Amino acid sequence: MKIIPRPTLADRTTLRLGGTALAEIRLETPEDAEKLGDVLSETGGSPHVLGGGSNLLVRDGDLPVTVITPLLGARKSDGSPAFPEILRTEKTDGACRMLVRAGAGMPVPRLLGWCAANGCSGLEGLVGIPGRLGGAIAMNAGAYGCSTAPLIEELEIWTPEEGILHIQASDCEYSYRHFSVRKAPSWFIVLEAVMAFPARPSELIRSDMARNIAAKTASQPVKARTAGCIFKNPQGESAGRLLDAAGMKNRRIGSLFFSPMHANFLVHDTSCGTTGRTSDALELIAIARKSVSDKFGVLLETEVREWPCLP
Ligand code: FAD
Ligand code: EPU
Repeated sequence: MKIIPRPTLADRTTLRLGGTALAEIRLETPEDAEKLGDVLSETGGSPHVLGGGSNLLVRDGDLPVTVITPLLGARKSDGSPAFPEILRTEKTDGACRMLVRAGAGMPVPRLLGWCAANGCSGLEGLVGIPGRLGGAIAMNAGAYGCSTAPLIEELEIWTPEEGILHIQASDCEYSYRHFSVRKAPSWFIVLEAVMAFPARPSELIRSDMARNIAAKTASQPVKARTAGCIFKNPQGESAGRLLDAAGMKNRRIGSLFFSPMHANFLVHDTSCGTTGRTSDALELIAIARKSVSDKFGVLLETEVREWPCLP
């Protein structure tokens, strides 16, 4: 376990915004998780779980927050990158699926590369999505017809009430960009997952990934400093299309603006040498929501998680 005092959260988010937390607790082993309750009572502050920081909008200033970063499964003990582990292969009625264990700290791009090389199908749509496996599960991240949660077979989680728990898929609830665990009444940390991947030839997985990344880079500003889409899509509609039609493309406050490529991506422009403020981002988000509501009568709900949030 590593405890870092007063981390700057702008350094830990893809949007490069956010003030200073009280502390960051890095969990590297299951034993670290066992000590977490005691460590949290020493650091104080409201606990917030950090993955790759790619879906976060963190407020400016001094924040009464302690960040917990589960890095299990990210590195081996010698510091080299860790990879998932195939537990077993199951065959039923001619269909073959592979049961694979991976830690919450595994970067999603590394997991996808491993899946392609090992013939594990199901996440082909997630190409180009940054972040870690724990964050992809907590958000039920998805794209191009794929999403993370349906592949979960078992989870190891930590809850403040019970400590480490082993959870089955039947204890999980998920929907579009939503994931929860029935046995976790307040909040939880995903430590590790066992996922069931249908087996598929590597070359077919690779060609689907290539098609999806081409579609993503053609329609989304994947190289800019963003947190992905700011708003969830309303049922049967694209928030990006509504924001575009409401005139939000290029709308700017300070160093923050809505992308001319995709109106649901808020971009932090750091090229002018000044650092943007989350207060500017929040003002733009409020303007965008009002513009869409006035024009279409649709109230957009944010997909990005605003920090600090209620425990
Ligand atoms: P974070 O941003 O760190 O956290 C997100 C939420 O998950 C927070 O509430 C956090 O507390 C919680 N969390 C994180 N780790 C854990 C854990 N181990 N246990 C419990 N809770 C945890 N998203 C999509 O769904 N589809 C897309 O196509 C997509 N494209 C993107 C493209 C770009 C260029 C960018 C920057 C983002 C995109 N995103 C997309 C958004 C984002 O990448 C995903 O939501 C991602 O899965 C978040 O993972 P993360 O590890 O960065 O989580
Ligand atoms: N559109 C516009 N203007 C825009 C943006 C989009 O007219 O500025 C139109 C497009 O032309 C298209 C339609 O809206 O006709 C849908 O756009 P797109 O295919 O880009 O999909 P999206 O609904 O905007 C969703 C997810 C993305 C995911 C893609 C691909 C949400 C909020 N967004 O985008 O996820 O990558 O589909 O599956 O669900 C994310 O969640 O962060 C994210 C990037």
